[in-house]
Amino acid sequence: VSTVEKHEVDLSSIEFWARPLDERLEAFRQLRAHDPVSWHRAPEPLAPGLENSKGFWAVTRYAHVREVSRNPQDFSSAEGVFLDDFPQLDTILSFLVMDDPRHTQMRGIVHSAFSPGHIRRMEEDIVQETRRLVGEIVERGEGDLCELFFKQLPGRVFAGFLGVEEPERREALIEGAEQLGAWADPTYSHIGAPLEVFQDAARRIMAITMDQAGRRRSQPRDDLVTWVVQAEFEGEKMSEEEIAAFFTLLVGAANDTTRHAMAHAVVTLQEHPDQRALLLEDFEGRVDGTVEELLRFKPPLMHFRRTATSDVELGGQEIHAGDKVVLWYLSANRDEDAFENPDEFDIMRDPNRHLAFGGGGPHYCLGSALGRHVTKAALREVTTRMRDLDVGEPEMLVSNFMNGVLSLPARWTPA
Ligand code: HEM
Repeated sequence: VSTVEKHEVDLSSIEFWARPLDERLEAFRQLRAHDPVSWHRAPEPLAPGLENSKGFWAVTRYAHVREVSRNPQDFSSAEGVFLDDFPQLDTILSFLVMDDPRHTQMRGIVHSAFSPGHIRRMEEDIVQETRRLVGEIVERGEGDLCELFFKQLPGRVFAGFLGVEEPERREALIEGAEQLGAWADPTYSHIGAPLEVFQDAARRIMAITMDQAGRRRSQPRDDLVTWVVQAEFEGEKMSEEEIAAFFTLLVGAANDTTRHAMAHAVVTLQEHPDQRALLLEDFEGRVDGTVEELLRFKPPLMHFRRTATSDVELGGQEIHAGDKVVLWYLSANRDEDAFENPDEFDIMRDPNRHLAFGGGGPHYCLGSALGRHVTKAALREVTTRMRDLDVGEPEMLVSNFMNGVLSLPARWTPA
């Protein structure tokens, strides 16, 4: 790995995020060692005339990411959760961009819809859908696994949870989810500046989630939207707009995270044949540990952001009220103070308290169990029904947020 000069570590430039992962990890290693809480200039503008007006603090060590995540009083989510400044995020991403007391209220309503019985049903759906989908593609013998499998699986699963049955609307959700997390990628530059890419995707997802919320309110069924429509917390229900925003958050939070987790899983296991062999020796006994290590090694989301509400000290730096504070999970998961040999991919690692689902605290991922379940189901089918799967060079998404795989050419022997 090349050494990276400090002046080259420019987290604010898109160019940095187009570099190979190893180079970016080396940059974060240097920041952790020499400048663990460092100041960076404002990121590149999201649209002409719309300045990303402020610089930000980059928090790179495991202990600091946890500390900030668990202190929502001093570090608010309500001013935005990305390094980039998108306007009016709360109407799109619901309680992800709220503080207490609203956050607890909204999350509480949704939480009561995610009861153990409902989660079990969703997990069964995931297993069925994974089998069905692999059955559809296994005869092909080759193709882009992202298009054929990794995009489709969460897309179908979560469209199913939303009760979206028509294939065109389902495809619209899948495409919208991909576009939502890809605002800086050249694939979408024909739509416009990054801000327009994001807003266009959000608008299209929102039209569908608004419609579904309305349909289920007038005609309840036995599905997730209906459960949320009917759910209450401390006597309060969600309005139709709030439900639509929550499901827009869900589409964004659930689809691409699991999609990229699956793609990283297949690529990383091929790159580490010894670990793959170890997994196959006792698949059911080792798959849980494998998924945890995959999430540590290649976290699908690289950051979330907070904004300081008062003057606070962190890692020897004076942070001022109003400053943006960015939590780099990608870096925390490779922190040598938290993990032995952090750059080694070791499916037997124990304990493995990675921060791929956040650093704890009130915003900790609501779907961590389902995300793990999807990734496991996919690994199980791939390792049993596509045994000689051979993947080529992945095409990576350009993003400072989503650690994503756009396409992945692959071959396997048809069943
Ligand atoms: C491997 C897959 C996934 C990863 C890596 C992931 C990661 C994350 C992270 C890092 C956060 C923010 C944590 C924080 O700020 O402390 C988050 C929040 C969230 N995730 Fe996930 N997620 C995944 C899958 C899912 C799925 C499948 C769902 C839905 C079923 C989901 C729903 C949510 C929601 C609703 C939030 C917001 C929670 C809040 O603000 O209170 N996620 N996720």
